[in-house]
Amino acid sequence: MVISTGANAPIGVFDSGIGGLTVVGAITRRLPNERVVYFGDTARVPYGPKSPDTVLRYAREITAWLRGEGVKAVVVACNTATAHALPVLQVECALPVIGVIAPGAKVAVAAAYPHAGVVGADVPGHGVPGDGFGTSGGIGVIGTSGTIASGAYARAIWSLEPHATVVSQACPLFVPLVEEGWVDHPATRLIAREYLAPLIGAHVRAVVLGCTHYPLMRTLLGSLLGPDVRLVDSAEATADQVAHVLEERGLRSRDPSTVPVHRFVASDAPAQFLRLGQRFLGAAIEHVETVTLG
Ligand code: DGL
Repeated sequence: MVISTGANAPIGVFDSGIGGLTVVGAITRRLPNERVVYFGDTARVPYGPKSPDTVLRYAREITAWLRGEGVKAVVVACNTATAHALPVLQVECALPVIGVIAPGAKVAVAAAYPHAGVVGADVPGHGVPGDGFGTSGGIGVIGTSGTIASGAYARAIWSLEPHATVVSQACPLFVPLVEEGWVDHPATRLIAREYLAPLIGAHVRAVVLGCTHYPLMRTLLGSLLGPDVRLVDSAEATADQVAHVLEERGLRSRDPSTVPVHRFVASDAPAQFLRLGQRFLGAAIEHVETVTLG
C-alpha cells in the first residue's frame, strides 16, 4: 500500500457515481496545479435511497482505497455520503476529509441572511444578495431522500444562523432524469414544479442544490424559482474549502510547471462514465479505469 501525503500527492475525490465530477470541475478550475484521483462508485449508485450504515460502509471502503493510492486529502463529493459518513471519516482518517454540506450551508446563509455575520469572502461569486429579495425569506434545500432525511443541511444552516427557516425537499427522481440527459425535458419541468412548490410557497431566498447531480439542472430550476432566488451550488464552495484546507496544512502543490494528469476510476460501466462524465466535468475525459471494491 502506498501512503503519501506530501504537497505533490493528488487529491482524492469520490461520489456514488458521476455527479461528483461537478465538484472535480470546480476543484480543477480553482486549483489548476492539483492532480485529482476520482472514484465514482457506479456499481453501487444510487446512494440516495440506501441506509446510512450501508452508505457509511461504502464511504469507508472508498476512502481506504484512495489512501492506498497515496492521496493527500479526501473530498466526499456526494451529499448523501457527506450526510451519513463525514463525521466518522474525519475521525478515522489521518488525512483532511472535506464534505460538501458545510460549504454549501455557509454560502446559503450568507445569501439568505446577510446580517448573520457569515462572511462569504472566501467563496467568490456566492456573496450576499442585493435588493429585491422576498420578504418571507428562508433557505430551501433539495437533495436525495437520504440527505434530506438525515437533516444534515438543516443542522449545518442552524449552526450558522439558529433562526433560519429551512424548507427541505427530497427530489428522488432528479438523479435518474439527469443521468438520462433530460435536464430540460418537459417531464422534468413538470416533476420539478411539483417538488419545488413548497419552496416557492415559502418564498425562500436561496436554494441549496444539495446533490451533485443538480447543478446540471440549474437553468430549469432557476427558471421555476425565479430571478430573486439564489441557487447555491456546493461544488464551487467546496473547491474554495479544499483550497483553504490545503493552504492551512501546507499541502498546496506549488509547482507551476506541473500539468496535472487526473485519474478517473469507476467501479462499473466505464463506457457510460466516459459518455456522461464530460457533461458533469465540463472537460474531456480520455480514459476511465475500473476498480472493484467490497
Ligand atoms: N451524488 C449523490 C449526492 O450528491 C446523488 C446520487 C445518488 O443518489 O447516489 O447526494
